[in-house]
Amino acid sequence: MAHRLFEGKEHASSYRKYRIAPSDHLIEHVIDFAGKQKGGPLELAVDVGCGSGQGTVQLAKHFASVVGTDISPAQIQEALEHAKEPNITYRQCVAEELPFADGSVDLITAMSAFHWFDRPRFLQEAHRVLKPHGCLALLNYTVEMDLSYPGCCLQSLNQVCKEFYAALHPYRSPHLGASSIELYREAYTSIPYANKEW
Ligand SMILES: C[S@@+](CC[C@H](N)C(=O)[O-])C[C@H]1O[C@@H](n2cnc3c(N)ncnc32)[C@H](O)[C@@H]1O
Repeated sequence: MAHRLFEGKEHASSYRKYRIAPSDHLIEHVIDFAGKQKGGPLELAVDVGCGSGQGTVQLAKHFASVVGTDISPAQIQEALEHAKEPNITYRQCVAEELPFADGSVDLITAMSAFHWFDRPRFLQEAHRVLKPHGCLALLNYTVEMDLSYPGCCLQSLNQVCKEFYAALHPYRSPHLGASSIELYREAYTSIPYANKEW
């Protein structure tokens, strides 16, 4: 069963407005890893569960072409309305059935999205479409982090966030289990690729 929690125009435009994009540092790290695996030019990246495209655009300068995919038509529409990079296209499709030929993709990213997928089916599908030396990057943040904001008391900020996450925890989707970091650790352990990095 798909988890469709990111639907509708209003949700998608709020999502785009407030969503924090992954850091350049993290993206550079992924590109560096993918480049070393491939040992040649990076042609095609697919950002699965791309939402409104904040992370997708960060891939554009590293690849000949980038495709963002998402189950939500509203998120895809939002991404398209702000699309500027000529080498990015967007497709509406599920993560578990990607519209790409076997062995055709250099990099697959899922940025804060993998946890929502049917994870075993997605991992199989990613394996099918990746080139032999392709790279799969599952990015996410966890709540075990320290936040900072200019002019803000860090202790209070972090305390407020801790309380906020604790208050929300009882409403967490059962699909995610109790802890995101454990979910990702389990996936990382289960992935049989020889070269992998946490
Ligand atoms: C938390 S958002 C992340 C969006 C974007 N990657 C980002 O970092 O801002 C998760 C996205 O995954 C999409 N999604 C959830 N389940 C999906 C599935 N089975 N197939 C494709 N997309 C899915 C949602 O529609 C949503 O846009």
